[in-house]
Amino acid sequence: MTSKPKVWVARPLFPEVLARLAQVAEVTAETEERPRSPAELKARLAEVDAAVVGLTDRVDAAALEGNQRLKVVANLGVGHNNLDLDALTQAGVLACNTPDVLTESVADFGWALMLAAARRIGAAERWLRAGHWPGSHMRFDDWLGLDLHGRTLGILGMGRIGQAVARRAGGFGMPVLYHNRSRLPAAVEQECRATLVSKAELLARADFLVLVLPFTAANHHAIGAAELAQMKRSAVLVNIARGGIVDDAALAAALREGTIAAAGLDVFEGEPAVHPDLLVLDNAVLSPHIASASAATRRDMANLAIDNVIAALGYGESAGRPPTPLNPAVFDRWAIRKA
Ligand code: DGY
Repeated sequence: MTSKPKVWVARPLFPEVLARLAQVAEVTAETEERPRSPAELKARLAEVDAAVVGLTDRVDAAALEGNQRLKVVANLGVGHNNLDLDALTQAGVLACNTPDVLTESVADFGWALMLAAARRIGAAERWLRAGHWPGSHMRFDDWLGLDLHGRTLGILGMGRIGQAVARRAGGFGMPVLYHNRSRLPAAVEQECRATLVSKAELLARADFLVLVLPFTAANHHAIGAAELAQMKRSAVLVNIARGGIVDDAALAAALREGTIAAAGLDVFEGEPAVHPDLLVLDNAVLSPHIASASAATRRDMANLAIDNVIAALGYGESAGRPPTPLNPAVFDRWAIRKA
């Protein structure tokens, strides 16, 4: 009898999802969230056939050095800037992510941040909870916010999530402008009611600018002081993509000085640390990277990550065909055994 493959799950996962994995593998699952040193990550990866990792686990050439055993790394997220795909491919390790299952939930959350930032929900709630309402004689012209309806929505990065954000704009009567590496097919543009413009035009015309682009070296600080200065003073910036796409120090200055009106941020440079200047601004709505965190979607993401591992290890109905590989060329080179 062959022994089961070993799988390390780096983040606490739903028990029923782990139970599925345990049917085919010997599973070591972390039960608490904590940062891991590169040395610990490397040692963990060296002991297993597959690993399920999160965004804070940086799997690069150093983490894979000398690793003769690892076959699969499944990322719990669609963004995969924590994975060095060249290094993984070089090492013959298949990498997978969790696209599609989170698209609609992340798009919903983009709208939640737009609404919360425009209508000052975070600040108003803090004020209410602090007991200021009774006896404050709140004025008719207090807590004035910005409307969304009829304003122009701008989307930077028009992949699956960007398109899902755009599709929701019809309900608010918002025209949509987008900027992307490539133009969308005409049918998709029509469905999203979206018009391609230059980045400069997007910055100048958007009343709400939602960032949904992947984080790459080229996108580092795609929104910095110069870009913020091109936006309307009444504009709202929303980042549901990745920290590092925005220069957080420049954004805090822009919010403080009224260069733009407000921001809704789910991701931060160097998270879980948040720039201290953002923490004290009432016109910034901040959330701890939870755009995909609906109960249903986080389960779907976990299940998809596990499906990838099970299939890549050669088990289950999809044996040999992991659903969402990032570097399938690696997989093609393997001789996969059926269980
Ligand atoms: C992703 O999938 O990339 C999200 O940021 C993780 O929740």
